[in-house]
Amino acid sequence: MVSDEFSPNPTENPLTQIVFTSNMISFNQEELLSQFPILSVKVHSNKRLVYLDSAATSQKPEVVMRAMNDFYEHANANIHRGIHALAELATEMYEKSRQKTADFIGASDASQIIFTRNTTESINLVAYSWGRKFLETGERILLTQMEHHSNLVPWYMLAEERGVKIDFIRVTDEGELDLEHYQQLLQTQPALVAFTHMSNVLGTINPAKEMIDLAHQAGALTLVDGAQAVPHFPVDVTDLNADFYAFSAHKMCGPNGIGVLYGRKKLLLEMPPFMGGGDMIKKVTFEGFSTNSIPYKFEAGTPAIAEGIGLGAAIDFLTSMGMQNVFDHESELAAYAFEVLTPIPGLAIIGPAPDRRGGVVSFTLQGIHPHDIAQILDREGIAVRAGHHCAMPLHQRFNLHASTRASLYLYNTKADLDALQQGLFKVIDTFK
Ligand code: ALA
Repeated sequence: MVSDEFSPNPTENPLTQIVFTSNMISFNQEELLSQFPILSVKVHSNKRLVYLDSAATSQKPEVVMRAMNDFYEHANANIHRGIHALAELATEMYEKSRQKTADFIGASDASQIIFTRNTTESINLVAYSWGRKFLETGERILLTQMEHHSNLVPWYMLAEERGVKIDFIRVTDEGELDLEHYQQLLQTQPALVAFTHMSNVLGTINPAKEMIDLAHQAGALTLVDGAQAVPHFPVDVTDLNADFYAFSAHKMCGPNGIGVLYGRKKLLLEMPPFMGGGDMIKKVTFEGFSTNSIPYKFEAGTPAIAEGIGLGAAIDFLTSMGMQNVFDHESELAAYAFEVLTPIPGLAIIGPAPDRRGGVVSFTLQGIHPHDIAQILDREGIAVRAGHHCAMPLHQRFNLHASTRASLYLYNTKADLDALQQGLFKVIDTFK
């Protein structure tokens, strides 16, 4: 399915611990297109769909949709409850997905994988459960200026309620974290450092392993928002030594409605449940309740069962493609995006050079509002996101209200970026 032309001498990027190779991995486009039926639809009557919005949500391969459909056709039942054939089959399928998820991110034990609705809920779970149990008034949390609202607002809510203080690691003009500033802030002895592994606006890949090491040396725990990382490059939570790591299925070829929180076992055992209800209990009496073991303690109520099974199928699919191949393909496309976008008059890309980022390229076009850009591109069949991308403070840092974002995935090609370039020339012509 993929060519095996790997670079014989891959270079290790010291910042990212991700291998940047020099060869593009050419996925067989015909084969890939046949797996993603939606990529063949025509939009605005006859325009080829050029989907450049995978950071918002990825498209789904047929194997994922089939796995969910098969579940409903042949195995639908509630899990962990029934003593009948279908209930046992459904439970087995769902728990198999949990094991696949653990293996995919290098977690040593499936009990460390908590299924949530999405990355946002995973972060909220930590803020509510760990934050409200362990943080006292006056304690500090470090965030960064490049966080998505989902890794800001839960902490703001906690700060308001508990009198916790928040500091922000600065972002440089090049769109990278100022690691000297980070080291200075660590001297304030924060209890937690929460940061994104890859920015959903700048595409910056942060040096997660180094940041976690520094946090631990300073006595802080870490939470990594991996929503834009796990879908796009190999992630190993054991190698990173992360305390908490959060991501969503829908950005990695999986369905909506299911996300993941990985947690260090000792922490998960100490944390109180986030929500109460069925499945999270061991015993309930008129006097009270005792909690179930992990991960179930954090999974109250009937979960998104078909979606969990869909996530397992998405993991099988990505594993068959090879996560390093996915990253190499997107790196090459990000470099090509710079090649085709940089010559466009008035266009400015925000964030670091292509060899320091993943496949997210946000930009501004002088004098033209991002919403107008996105609307005109849409008429050409090109789907991009325009606005603040749920990162208003980051836009404020760059004195912007909004930007236009093209975000890539394994199914994108150089032809998609050529189409974007042509579309942007049309935008400029429209505003002449
Ligand atoms: N977090 C998603 C994005 O960046 C929704 O578009």
